[in-house]
Amino acid sequence: MLKKKIAVLSGAGISAESGIATFRDANGLWEGHDVMEVASPEGWDKNPALVLDFYNKRREVVLSAQPNAGHKAIAELEEHFEVAVITQNIDDLHERAGSTNVLHLHGSILEARSSEDESKIYPVENGKIAIGDLCEEGAQLRPNIVWFGERVPAIDEAVSYFLEADIILVVGTSLAVYPAAGLINYAKRESAIYVIDPNTPPTLWKDNVKRIEEASAKALPKLKEQLIEDLASTTS
Ligand code: APR
Repeated sequence: MLKKKIAVLSGAGISAESGIATFRDANGLWEGHDVMEVASPEGWDKNPALVLDFYNKRREVVLSAQPNAGHKAIAELEEHFEVAVITQNIDDLHERAGSTNVLHLHGSILEARSSEDESKIYPVENGKIAIGDLCEEGAQLRPNIVWFGERVPAIDEAVSYFLEADIILVVGTSLAVYPAAGLINYAKRESAIYVIDPNTPPTLWKDNVKRIEEASAKALPKLKEQLIEDLASTTS
């Protein structure tokens, strides 16, 4: 029998309990920097060394962090459902928890790319990117991260998962950034939508949305059990 489809849209909140700070909880300042200084093409043009240093430090945090019970519960759903994880996070905690189908909308901190050609992507060697690290065509490498003002190449694939999903989980995202924030509008009318966030984003105060206002590492293992039970009762 065909498995039911789950689309998960995750944001910084799912990794908060793994020790990776969320964005907007710190008043738009990332490690003391204005967001546009470190996460925009203009910031990169102005001071690439600062941008590389910022992400080199964040990469260290990611590499020493571990997936939490929320990431693991999502991975375990694959035993019963066809699951697509669409994450805005640049960490790899979903993959390390065992999820096999993860789409990174905003790129990956573990990858570098040519600053001239977005299709030239490389693993980050020795944990750092430095000024003078070049792609084979001689262009400076930068983090393979989608910055403010840049296009989101994976958005069409993300939309296709939302169009087909029977169940949607929105976890730990303020839904402040488009196009990710608009994905929910592609949900089928009959899909079940759950929002797992201690502060439900205002755009999701809707009748057809089930709100779970709890930290995701606590809420997701319980929700996983519930979804599996619901599945058993509808198929028996
Ligand atoms: N469990 C679940 N949710 C949590 C937890 C937790 N333990 N702790 C915080 N949250 C929630 C907050 O309530 C908030 O709604 O996580 C959300 C984090 O929101 P943001 O910091 O805005 O992060 P996100 O939505 O992922 O940001 C989207 O914006 O800055 C850019 O590109 C960056 O991918 C990022 C995008």
